[in-house]
Amino acid sequence: MDTNTSDPARTSVLFVCLGNICRSPLAEGIFLHLVHEAGLDDRFEIDSAGTGAWHVGERPDARASMVASKHGVHLDSRARQITDDDLDRFDYVIAMDRENLRNIERMADARGSDAEVHLLRTYDDSGDGDEVPDPYYGGASGFETVYEMVHRSCQNLLERLKAA
Ligand code: 4NP
Repeated sequence: MDTNTSDPARTSVLFVCLGNICRSPLAEGIFLHLVHEAGLDDRFEIDSAGTGAWHVGERPDARASMVASKHGVHLDSRARQITDDDLDRFDYVIAMDRENLRNIERMADARGSDAEVHLLRTYDDSGDGDEVPDPYYGGASGFETVYEMVHRSCQNLLERLKAA
C-alpha cells in the first residue's frame, strides 16, 4: 500500500508478525488472493509489517514463498517495521502471536488508536490454539502447518469483514 491515508471506502487490514518475512507475508498474500478470488479488490487495502526491524527491505523467506506458490499464492512483499502511523491508518491490525499482540496493543494505547487489534487465530475454527507459531527456526513442514492455519483464519476473517 503506497498511500499515507486509508481510503474510507475500503476496509484496511495490516497483518503483523515479528520479522515480516514468514507469517505476516503469508497472511497478506493469502488474504489478497482470497479477496481477489471473491472479486472484492476494490473493497480492501491489505499490507503486512513486523514488530522487529532485522529484515527490513527483504523479500519473504524462501520457504514461505515456496509453500505459498505450491498453493497457487504469490508473495510480493518487502519487509518493513510497523510504525505509529499504521495504528491510525489501518482499521484492523491482526497479530500472529501473543507477543506481537502485546507490542501492537502497547503502541495502540500510546497512540490513542481505535484500530481493532486481534490475534489472527481468533478467526480459526480448528480449536487447536490461538497463535500462529514462528516457523523461522524449523523445517519446511512447519511452513505447511502455518500455511494451513493462516489460510483457514483468513477465509473466516474475510467472511466476517464482508458481512461488517
Ligand atoms: P516471522 O518469522 O516473524 O514469521 O517473519 C521470523 C523471522 C525472522 C526472525 C524471527 C521470526 N528472526 O529472529 O530473525
